[in-house]
Amino acid sequence: MDRDILLGIAFLCGTWPALGLAAEDPPLSPASRDCLECHEEATPGVVADWRRSRHARTTVQAALAKPPASRRVSVGEAPEGTASFAVGCAECHTRDPDRHPDTVDHGDHRMHPVVTPADCAACHPVEADQFRQNRMAHAHGNLVRNPLFRDLMDQAVGIRSRDGRSLKVSDPGDATRADACLACHGTEVRVVGTVTRDTAQAGEMTFPVLSHWPNQGVGRVNPDGTLGTCSACHVRHEFSIAVARKAETCGTCHKGPDVPAYPVWSVSKHGVTVKSREASYDFDAVPWVPGRDFTAPTCAACHASELADASGRVMVPRTHRFADRLAWRLFGLPYAHRPPQGPDTTGLRSADGLPLPTALDGTPSPGLIDPAEGEARERRLATVCGACHGTSWVTGHFQKLHHVIEETNRQTRTATGMVQEAWARGCARGPGQGSPFDEVIERRWVESWLFYGNATRFAAAMSGADYGVFAEGRWWLTKTLQAMSEWLATCRARPSR
Ligand code: HEC
Ligand code: HEC
Ligand code: HEC
Ligand code: HEC
Ligand code: HEC
Ligand code: HEC
Ligand code: HEC
Ligand code: HEC
Repeated sequence: MDRDILLGIAFLCGTWPALGLAAEDPPLSPASRDCLECHEEATPGVVADWRRSRHARTTVQAALAKPPASRRVSVGEAPEGTASFAVGCAECHTRDPDRHPDTVDHGDHRMHPVVTPADCAACHPVEADQFRQNRMAHAHGNLVRNPLFRDLMDQAVGIRSRDGRSLKVSDPGDATRADACLACHGTEVRVVGTVTRDTAQAGEMTFPVLSHWPNQGVGRVNPDGTLGTCSACHVRHEFSIAVARKAETCGTCHKGPDVPAYPVWSVSKHGVTVKSREASYDFDAVPWVPGRDFTAPTCAACHASELADASGRVMVPRTHRFADRLAWRLFGLPYAHRPPQGPDTTGLRSADGLPLPTALDGTPSPGLIDPAEGEARERRLATVCGACHGTSWVTGHFQKLHHVIEETNRQTRTATGMVQEAWARGCARGPGQGSPFDEVIERRWVESWLFYGNATRFAAAMSGADYGVFAEGRWWLTKTLQAMSEWLATCRARPSR
């Protein structure tokens, strides 16, 4: 139909303008229209944000009609009842009500507030399936179900009080855990009851009461049992690909001294080039063409994005399984190592019986990828670099990184040897006798790998030289080793405990 005629009909009917929709916007399902009737008033910010999204401006049918290279849905055909409508409130919040324990009667509908990866999977099955295999989706369990990591958490955030002349550490409690480590790793969201409230727009309404909500940690455990939240990166309700491609989105979590990818990237030529040129970049284009749409990479370009050349030929396919391009796990536990084969790390056991990917002497645990797989992944990442750099530049970069992994691991061995001697001499209580993370020598040992070893490696991988030296890098690593050595000398001088 002619656009002007469509416009005329919509205005004559009066419904489009009343719902704040432009004439060219696709129709809404009857359920989604109901939602807007109230939510225009109840949550105007949500409605305005959604209206800017592609979900509001496209039907699944129209999305499927696009050529494969620029298609933004991965489902083969539209889920029942959705083909000719925009993706409105109801398409997400009323999907499969019976599998969502947080479903409540809401107006004439059955609505759940916690939209999960299972809902998105109706139209984006490939992304949801890959994200399930991303370590990020398992970030909650990997932390709380690993007894050593859980102890690290409780020692780091446990509440301190004076107990005579010593310091007592008490259980931080779930609320503190949720506000601390689990803010990023994700909480477990459960339905713990319902509450009936008087609302300005619709009188009495009943809502679910959810534990540890709100939370947008990447590994959030949802009431329907699914893992993770897509809105960690796809900020609701615009769900914009441009936002997901910005480094700031990843920087919400990848920032501290333990995981300084964002600060490292920010001071690299890549970060600086992006920041100075981004007004001229096209962050929305699919396919995404290096050189044409952007001239330096954000996190997404290296770790996730589908990149194509100007003729549309795909150079690297998109992945929501971010380890696909990672040959190493830079994050030392306590040594840098090959990535685990699967996203759930709780099954790893080191040769010395600890739930870690490496033993205390550095021996890799079973269950990590083999070197051949590592090399294949490094080649995949090098293909990304190859869009903008020559082979010698890229090969030289990775050689430097391999050297830094080896060099920092060697110093982690030095630090670990010292803490082990402190344990053996009874100057500190190690595994089996007490927490390995609470005493001063142990805290220094943790900092040597968790902060300074990691920062040095991240700086080498993502080119932020200062983080490899004076900003949380080698200066601090070597200073910490010196302090540990001097502490150990006083321990040796003490009569054993
Ligand atoms: C009769 C009016 C009305 C209709 C129709 C309606 N809502 Fe609501 N909705 C409300 C009000 C009022 C609130 C409460 C807002 C607040 O907490 O201040 C609400 C809250 C919500 C919440 C948040 C719930 C929570 O526990 O935090 C979601 C999600 C939601 N509505 C989705 C929908 C969807 C999807 C539809 C359509 C299927 C819909 N609503 C239809 C009035 C309505
Ligand atoms: C850790 C961050 C992150 C999370 C979590 C995440 N995504 Fe993405 N997503 C991205 C990035 C980055 C892109 C851009 C990829 C590109 O440039 O090709 C993207 C792109 C997409 C696209 C656009 C694909 C296209 O064809 O244009 C869809 C759809 C999508 N994600 C769905 C999901 C769903 C569904 C989930 C949850 C199951 C999810 N994402 C979780 C980061 C994330
Ligand atoms: C593409 C799917 C999708 C669509 C479409 C959608 N939502 Fe949501 N909505 C979500 C997700 C996902 C969350 C939860 C965010 C999170 O994971 O923390 C959410 C959360 C909410 C909340 C609770 C957030 C808060 O801050 O209290 C409200 C209210 C809500 N949506 C209303 C709406 C309304 C109204 C519409 C239609 C204008 C709508 N949603 C359309 C996916 C969607
Ligand atoms: C009923 C089908 C449907 C559901 C459910 C759905 N989407 Fe979409 N999604 C679409 C369509 C259609 C598009 C637009 C495609 C286009 O413009 O070509 C889209 C586009 C996207 C994009 C790309 C946006 C952009 O700016 O390019 C992202 C990201 C996305 N969806 C994420 C999600 C997430 C996350 C959820 C769950 C919270 C979700 N979608 C649920 C159908 C759906
Ligand atoms: C600001 C966000 C954020 C907070 C808060 C946070 N982490 Fe993390 N954590 C991360 C990121 C990002 C990674 C991934 C590191 C990497 O692979 O580069 C991670 C990974 C981990 C891992 C590795 C798990 C595995 O086996 O894969 C452990 C252990 C961990 N964190 C412990 C903690 C503890 C303990 C706390 C609280 C004291 C905490 N984290 C708080 C962001 C965070
Ligand atoms: C809400 C917090 C959060 C956001 C946002 C986030 N991450 Fe993560 N990321 C984590 C945590 C936590 C882990 C570690 C999970 C674990 O080890 O159990 C992680 C792990 C990773 C890993 C290792 C994955 C694997 O399977 O080996 C990569 C790579 C990564 N993140 C990159 C990114 C990128 C790129 C973005 C932005 C597009 C991003 N992250 C956004 C918290 C986040
Ligand atoms: C120029 C490409 C590039 C950019 C841009 C980039 N990275 Fe990386 N990233 C790398 C390389 C190279 C590695 C190490 C590769 C390996 O494991 O073989 C890496 C490793 C990682 C890891 C894995 C850490 C671990 O524990 O193994 C995470 C997480 C990560 N990057 C997050 C980010 C985030 C967040 C950003 C944006 C702020 C970002 N990266 C930007 C190239 C890049
Ligand atoms: C989209 C293009 C693009 C991609 C992809 C890309 N780079 Fe770059 N890179 C640049 C630009 C532009 C510069 C700045 C060049 C200069 O100043 O000489 C740069 C600079 C660098 C530098 C110098 C960094 C510094 O801060 O001194 C290194 C090293 C580098 N890139 C390595 C890589 C590696 C390794 C990859 C792949 C993992 C990669 N790049 C991917 C565009 C890109």
